Amino acid sequence: MGIEMNVERFAGIRTPFYYYDTNILRQTLDAINKETKKHDNYFVHYAVKANANLKVLKVINEAGLGIDCVSGGEIEQVLKAGFPANKIVFAGVGKSDWEIELGLDKDIFCFNVESIPELEVINEIAERKGKMATICFRINPNVGAHTHAHITTGLAENKFGIAMEDMEKVIRLAQGMKNVQFKGLHFHIGSQILEMDDFIALAHRVNELQDRLEAQGIRIDIINVGGGLGVDYNDPQGNPIPNFKDYFAVYEQHLKVRPGQTVHFELGRAVVAQCGALITKVNYVKQGSVKQFAIVDAGFTDLIRPALYDAHHKIINLTANATQNVEQYDVVGPICESSDTFDKDIQLPTTHRGDLLALLSAGAYGEIMASSYNCRRLPDGYTNEDL
Ligand code: LLP
Repeated sequence: MGIEMNVERFAGIRTPFYYYDTNILRQTLDAINKETKKHDNYFVHYAVKANANLKVLKVINEAGLGIDCVSGGEIEQVLKAGFPANKIVFAGVGKSDWEIELGLDKDIFCFNVESIPELEVINEIAERKGKMATICFRINPNVGAHTHAHITTGLAENKFGIAMEDMEKVIRLAQGMKNVQFKGLHFHIGSQILEMDDFIALAHRVNELQDRLEAQGIRIDIINVGGGLGVDYNDPQGNPIPNFKDYFAVYEQHLKVRPGQTVHFELGRAVVAQCGALITKVNYVKQGSVKQFAIVDAGFTDLIRPALYDAHHKIINLTANATQNVEQYDVVGPICESSDTFDKDIQLPTTHRGDLLALLSAGAYGEIMASSYNCRRLPDGYTNEDL
């Protein structure tokens, strides 16, 4: 039901590598489009920070999604993949001048602006270029999300966005500038959110802020509620498609949309997590004094989420027959740090040197967060269409 893999397909390919199942990706995109096409004013911008693999991007572009970028490099990459510039939203708390210039040169859809100094710089650069920058303000809604502290972004203590109490001030400031056009508001409360109540809280907060603006005669055209929908890391095979129905229903039921407004979403993880796996080879099985280790050739340089966020990726042995005896292992990488551990005390069929393991749900924030620490090679990425 979930991602399809077999060892024959992977024979002779250098490990570790990422494998993407475009069938799962297409099913996921179909599920999104099925919900959003109920509304002619809902637009999903895929958050390319989750995965910028060109082959993956091309499939997402074919499905007609827009795109959410947070750097000039991401803008260059999505243009290379064929996304139209007028579907790009550009967020980020610290945009460099060259990145703003690139966005203006390409006539992107919208800059999500996070501070007054940034607003002033965008206006200045746009003036120099004789351009008009379309902008939304990212407002920090002070809405908590039930997720890991490192990936919560919508609290007053986080570095992101503009404080709610400053909202009218920044809008008035923008309205007085010649080379920016204020269009709307942007929000994002965090990532890997599975409690729909968190999104409901955001929708209510947006309603309050809109009422406040309306009372002062300020009209907005764009409401961007960010991303954050989570996926099932425990049972990716049984539950490969995230709950888009409930997610979009939250906004349908709770967000008060005025005539002519468009609603924008920036989903990253939910689009790509379940179509990807990290494939790694077992180099050694070692008996410790209290533990048995399966030492694999992938490390946190290939997939950093377990080390960085205590994240859990389900691990399966693709080589061993599931009917064999089961034993307990810590699955660890070769890097010289104890945090280079993918999982502890997990049950796997008796595992041997040379077996291929798959770390599931690795399509989001996997390949893109790889590093070359220890002078390791970056992992390759393949799809089922390549192999
Ligand atoms: N929009 C904004 C403004 C964001 O900051 C993010 C993610 C997204 C959209 C997409 O969120 P998603 O739908 O993927 O949850 N590396 C971490 C996740 C960091 C998310 C950062 N911002 C991880 O591996 O869990």
